[in-house]
Amino acid sequence: QDAAIGIHDLSFATTEFVLTHKALAAHDGTDIGKYHVGIGQQSMSVPAADEDIVTMGAAAAAPITARHGTDQIRTVVFATETSIDQSKAAGVYVHSLLGLPSSARVVEIKQACYAGTAALQFALGLVRRDPSQRVLVIASDVSKYDLGSPGEPTQGAAAVAMLIAADPALVRIEDPSGLYTADVMDFWRPNYRDTALVDGHESINAYLQALEGSWKDYIEQGGRALGEFSAFCYHQPFTKMAYKAHRHLLHVCGHDTDAAEITRAIGHTTAYNTVVGNSYTASMYLALASLLDHGEDLTDKAIGFVSYGSGSVAEFFAGTVVPGYREHLRTAGHQEAVARRKPVDYARYGELHERSFPADGGDHPVPRETSGPYRLGARARPWGTARAVL
Ligand code: CAA
Repeated sequence: QDAAIGIHDLSFATTEFVLTHKALAAHDGTDIGKYHVGIGQQSMSVPAADEDIVTMGAAAAAPITARHGTDQIRTVVFATETSIDQSKAAGVYVHSLLGLPSSARVVEIKQACYAGTAALQFALGLVRRDPSQRVLVIASDVSKYDLGSPGEPTQGAAAVAMLIAADPALVRIEDPSGLYTADVMDFWRPNYRDTALVDGHESINAYLQALEGSWKDYIEQGGRALGEFSAFCYHQPFTKMAYKAHRHLLHVCGHDTDAAEITRAIGHTTAYNTVVGNSYTASMYLALASLLDHGEDLTDKAIGFVSYGSGSVAEFFAGTVVPGYREHLRTAGHQEAVARRKPVDYARYGELHERSFPADGGDHPVPRETSGPYRLGARARPWGTARAVL
């Protein structure tokens, strides 16, 4: 039997600013019920001009390296679908900001919102090969759609950092995984755009198809029965999607699609996503943070994870919560990350949204706005950033 491997620490960070859905609804004349109830969102994180995936990723990871040191980290895997460079991994900037050892590999990986899970699986394999090393996984994204488009109310931004290690303090990740890939055009962001293109209703169907496919494969691979799970962490492009997805899974398994049962299984997973919005690669791990921070005692309980990335790839896998996990949580820090955001009105949000990246190759100093620990000092080159600086 291999040593248990999994999530040893988990920390998230989000942005300086927040736009409430009340402000958005007042601007676009939408009944607030559509946002609060229909999609299940209260507010969205909005990055300051000097914040990006690097500053959020470093802010998420800094408390982890402060607690555990950096000596055992030989790999950093940075997952994102809002990459700032076509060549250099965003994680190399984080590696420098956190003072990680030069004897490390750093890589960036992509497959829409699924990439955070690809990073986790990559990390599990590395630690299985050498249980003395630890892998820092960072999932960081800014979700951005065109102003006035149906996707706009589902925007958000956050980064999750996880330390993957043997004998983990939080969650042991199990084999097998259920896998599913299908070539669909439900959501994509070609190189010439910085907002995503999406066929919203098709994307919901594609998500449900992928969930079903990954679950069926999970069962064929010898996974747990549905009834063994105490809770389910879904990818949450908007929190209502988790409810739709769990109802679908219960239906596929021939269980009652009872609303109280659905709320019991996923209700504690939505507390952060409903106020942060879609954080793409980080979203399912924000759901895990929410569950651990707000749920009843989950010691030795099995959690089901449903990771979906448009395009599309999905993975269903399980984890077991480790005894004593509550001593290692960062609940106060997570609540502070959400509470410290400053509200902006629609006009200010609109300005931040419409900033364009200079394409002349020069350095463009960015105004100091963030009160977070890291900031972007200058924007340069078409994909945005050169460096995040202290
Ligand atoms: N009170 C209460 N509920 C209301 C309401 C009101 N006044 N008005 C509308 N609603 C409900 C609707 O009935 C609907 O609920 P159901 O889905 O349960 O029927 C819900 O609010 C949304 O209404 P619409 O479907 O009319 O909304 P829309 O057409 O404007 O678009 C959306 C919704 C497709 C999710 C859109 O926001 C979108 O395109 N989002 C981006 C894409 C996305 O998030 N897709 C999710 C799957 S893909 C994925 O997961 C990857 C990823 O991260 C992007």
